[in-house]
This record gives sequence, C-alpha cells and structure tokens, in this order.
Amino acid sequence: MKILVVGGGGREHAIVWKLKASNSVHKIFCAPGNPGIAESAECVALQINQSTELADFAEANKIDLTVVGPEDPLTDGIVDYFEKRNLPIFGPNRQSALLEGSKTYAKKVMKRFNVPTASYCEFDDFAEALAYVKEQGLPIVIKADGLAAGKGVTVAETLEEAETALQAAMLQKIFGESGTKVVIEECLLGEEMTVLAFVDGVTVLPMVPSQDHKPVFDGDRGPNTGGMGAYSPVPHLEHWLPEIEKSIIRPVAEGLAAEGTPFSGILYTGLMLTENGPKVIEFNVRFGDPEAQVVLPRLENDLAEVLLAVAEQRLHEINLRWKAGASVCVIAAAPGYPGPPVKGLQISLPENLVADSQIFHAGTTLQKQQLVTNGGRVFGVTAQGIDIEEARQRAYSLLEGVIFKGKHFRKDIAAKALN
Ligand code: AMP
Ligand code: GLY
Repeated sequence: MKILVVGGGGREHAIVWKLKASNSVHKIFCAPGNPGIAESAECVALQINQSTELADFAEANKIDLTVVGPEDPLTDGIVDYFEKRNLPIFGPNRQSALLEGSKTYAKKVMKRFNVPTASYCEFDDFAEALAYVKEQGLPIVIKADGLAAGKGVTVAETLEEAETALQAAMLQKIFGESGTKVVIEECLLGEEMTVLAFVDGVTVLPMVPSQDHKPVFDGDRGPNTGGMGAYSPVPHLEHWLPEIEKSIIRPVAEGLAAEGTPFSGILYTGLMLTENGPKVIEFNVRFGDPEAQVVLPRLENDLAEVLLAVAEQRLHEINLRWKAGASVCVIAAAPGYPGPPVKGLQISLPENLVADSQIFHAGTTLQKQQLVTNGGRVFGVTAQGIDIEEARQRAYSLLEGVIFKGKHFRKDIAAKALN
C-alpha cells in the first residue's frame, strides 16, 4: 500500500512511525510532515487545508489510502471531497465531524441517545450567558462552541474568571466565530480518561484507554493546553471500559448509523469518571494528541490494515491485539506555550535511541540544516516499559537529552496511576 498522511504534528509522527512498521505499507507520504516524520516518510509541501491539491496528489500518485490526522480538514469536509473524486480516505465526513466541530451538535447527539454528560445551556448573548452563570453558581465550565485547538474551555472557580472567559469568547472573539456561541456546563468532578475507538459505521473496536494531562503545570494547575503528556494503560480506571463501551460508544455509533449518518473513523471519547459513573466531556473525531503517541506503540496489529478495514467497512474482520506493559509520553514544550511559543530556538537531540522509545516531533522545523522549535508542543518524548513506573522513568531520562532553551514539561505525567 501507498499511504498519504495529512498533518505535521506529534500525532501524525506517531501514525507515520506505526505505518512504517506495517508489512502492508511500502511507501508513506506526509503533507506537510515535519523533520522527524521525514525520517520515515516523504514529506510533501502541501498544507492540511489544501483539499484540492491533496486530492490531486493522491490521484497522481495512486495513493491507496489517505489518513487525516487533525480535525480541521475533517470539519472542512476533506473526506466528502475525496469521496466525490473516488479517492480512498480514512476519517469521518463533514456531517460526522460535527461531533467535534460543534459542542452544541455533540450535546444534542448525546441527548438523543441517552449518553451521560454534563448538563448544559447554550448562549449567543453575553448578558444572558452571564446571568445564567450567576444563577447556576460556581464552579462552572465555559466552552466556545466551535474548534479552538483545545484551548476554548475554562473551568471557572470564580465569577470573575467566568466573566473574563465569556468576554474573551463572545465580545473580544479571541476564537473568532468559534466562540461567539458558548456552551455553559455543569462542572464534573472526578478523574479523566480517553477512550479512542475505531468505528466503521457498524463495528466498534475500542483501543486501550489512556489519560491526557491538559493543564500546563504540575498538579493540574494553570491554563489548558492541547495536552502535556499521556500514558496507557490507566490501571486504576480501566474497569470502567465495558460500561463506557455499552452506555456511550455503542449507543452513539449505532444511533448515528440508524439515523442514516454512520460514523467512520476514530471516535475519541473524553470522559470524566464521576461518582455517578462515566460522563462524556467531549467527543473528537480523530486520534488524540498526545494520546496517539502512547496508544499506537502498544498496538500489535498492522495499522494500515486496520485503517483500510475501517474505510472499506469490514472492521468486523479485525481482531485488535495489544502489547502488555505501559507507554508514557511527556511533552517538551517551548517557552511561552500555551501562549504564543518562542520559535527558532536551536535543538539538540540524543544521538541514538534505545529500543522501545520514540522522540515524536510535534513543533520542529529545519533552518539552514539546524533543527529548531516551530510550535508550542515541540516533542512527545515517549517510552515503553514493563509497567508505568518503568515506562515513566525511561521517558523522563530520554527527555534529559532533548535540549533547547526554556524547555518546559510536566514532572508528574502518569503520577496519578502510581498513587
Ligand atoms: P475539552 O477541550 O472539552 O476537552 O476540555 C478541556 C478540559 O476542560 C477537559 O479535559 C477537562 O479537564 C475540562 N473540562 C471540560 N468540561 C468539563 C466539565 N463539564 N467539568 C469539568 N471539567 C471539564
Ligand atoms: N489530547 C486532547 C486532544 O487530542 O484533543
């Protein structure tokens, strides 16, 4: 198979790395890719939003499957466009991608299929939104309705924080049109977990669970990021998996299929495990970043075969197999992140990687042959081990050799699994 991967972050590096190990794959292209991806794939100078040019490329190069990493092209309808041109592609169409692209759409889907989630109200008027916050009390959660790169959510502990978040989204429009409508939600208490699942419309195959770390600082303090690290398995929470599959993932997949809008691709379920059981925080429609970096190294199957089976609606033929042991990913972030990161900082990396460890490039580029920072999350430093303790020690010791000015990272990735 010849595969084209769309994207250029840590998640796409993990996807390319895993595809490279697939026996069924003989050539990988990645658009736009990054310097780490370039070690395993041929990078193509096309951006993720250039659907027409990407389809032209796939057609000219007889690509057997295009795999879309990030959400933006999916919500823009890249899958609909490829399908119109009869080009094989992995991912949900524009309609299905609304599960991630619109919080209000996702909430309505959950309501229809009785999926447990936080109670909520939606607003497009600032004064009404503020009045609702005052009426509901604190803490309370404020979310931009549309896509905001993982940064559109504020868990407000004070009225001032809530008001600032509403002003920023609705009046200052810091998320553009994505934030003019907001969802105000009940604040759920508990621990979080991510369950990714392959879905081909009918068949649902959940992957091993993982846990992300959204806030920038240790102890879950500070503003939210796209994710500062992840680990898998999540031993203290995994007993919830059958319940999550039965009361959340299957009802959504089966319900959407019955309504004539089957979901195809990866359904990402972000959960809060509350004292009343699992509740959905959000759906996404793609691999998580950095969750993919810990889940994919544990997958034993040929990833290309699984993705193709989803695209061809024969996922029932696949039996997922997982490596025992654990995988831990620590994000090395650039100074400034999650605000505007410092770009162009020189990077040095360890010469050789030991087995069962990966340095996934997320925000890097080459400037005159020198590797430099080019984004907020610079690397996903990942390692496997016989258990979480070992994987964690190996990831942190690998991180010491990843050097650039002002590098910051959380020191407590996977700590919740050890307590
Ligand atoms: P999201 O972008 O929807 O994943 O939200 C980012 C983070 O905000 C989540 O990972 C949670 O930590 C937090 N969050 C979102 N919704 C809620 C909620 N209803 N209750 C408590 N925390 C939430
Ligand atoms: N790590 C969160 C996400 O991928 O949305």
